[in-house]
Amino acid sequence: MTNGLTGIVAGQTSISSTNNGHLIYAGYPIEQLAKMQPNFETTMFLLWHLRLPQETELTELQQQLTHNMVLPANYLALLKQICREPEAPMSQLRTAVSLLEIISPADLTAEAIQAKVLIVITAIIRLHRGQSILTPLAKADYATNLLYLVTGKRPQPRQQLIENQVLLVHADHEFNASTFTARVTASTATDTYSCLTAAIAALKGPLHGGANEKVGLMLEELTTNKRPPVLYLKEKLKQGEKIMGFGHRIYKKSDPREKLLKKYAKELAQQTNHLDWYQTSIEIERYMWAQKHLIPNVDFYSATIYHCLGFKADEFTLLFAASRCAGWLAHIKEQRQQATLIRPSSEYIGPRHLQMMTYEANQ
Ligand code: ACO
Repeated sequence: MTNGLTGIVAGQTSISSTNNGHLIYAGYPIEQLAKMQPNFETTMFLLWHLRLPQETELTELQQQLTHNMVLPANYLALLKQICREPEAPMSQLRTAVSLLEIISPADLTAEAIQAKVLIVITAIIRLHRGQSILTPLAKADYATNLLYLVTGKRPQPRQQLIENQVLLVHADHEFNASTFTARVTASTATDTYSCLTAAIAALKGPLHGGANEKVGLMLEELTTNKRPPVLYLKEKLKQGEKIMGFGHRIYKKSDPREKLLKKYAKELAQQTNHLDWYQTSIEIERYMWAQKHLIPNVDFYSATIYHCLGFKADEFTLLFAASRCAGWLAHIKEQRQQATLIRPSSEYIGPRHLQMMTYEANQ
């Protein structure tokens, strides 16, 4: 028995692996994929079909995605109600995804759901910022539309490339908490929206995807108030608090995703005059390694990237969801094919042999 299923192999998958500290998607190491500089459509296709796409398949996927980036008026009216307060965007996303069922009672295709989730995420951000919801660019990839639908501006080629790389590294991670949640839910033979709603609920937690928001808030506080990171960290660790963006259940020496993100964080920080975020991050990384032997995870440098791209801390986890949705959809499909209910056993540690008579006598 281990707490938190540490080290337990809970099922089989062909979608991704983290064996020996290397992250691979359907056989391809992410470093190799990153070198190809694929757009996110390639990553989606790989996760959903377990092979790389042909040129025509890629074009078709892109068309299907853009075609589906639309929400009907009745749904939009409800979304506006949900997003009246610019608070708790992940809770709003959770509710909004669960509501998607009202516009498509039967399960949509993975492509259509991925597209709808993106338009919902960008709509939540726009509504919070008091802006109108935009329609997607017709001939643009998913990453371009993600940035365009938020900012209203077509991103620079370098921003588009970096966003595609960010989406790539967040797309899947074998049996992480939200994906496992999606699989447990799918194993009951329920619908896709229910699986995604459950997955979003798990991703939102600060020990999982919600950590990137906390990293953003920490860096904002340190850079705005010019607080020395070491003093801040000493205080937090003394109080027994965890430092968000550090530590990982699987990776103990380095997180392969973080390595890719760190160089883009530096590049964007230099370009956008946010070097204070990057330099503060470097100081935190050094201290955490020296004091605790803890490594930065995917949520650490992604925070600086999102900040440099113009996002606010409470929007960061939405961006994570825009990518991980592809992984969830792949795992939901695979779990359905395996057609087995996930239902482990537990070790009972409560009392036994309590006498009802004793209870009644005390009433
Ligand atoms: N800050 C301070 N101490 C930490 C941190 C941290 N970020 N992470 C782990 N530790 C300490 C623990 O307190 C524990 O110390 P102890 O042995 O003295 O009790 C020890 O390191 C082992 O930590 P666990 O929590 O047992 O390790 P586990 O593998 O269960 O947890 C987790 C991994 C949940 C990610 C943890 O490192 C953590 O909470 N990190 C901060 C939140 C975070 O960044 N989450 C994002 C993870 S990546 C993702 O989900 C996309």
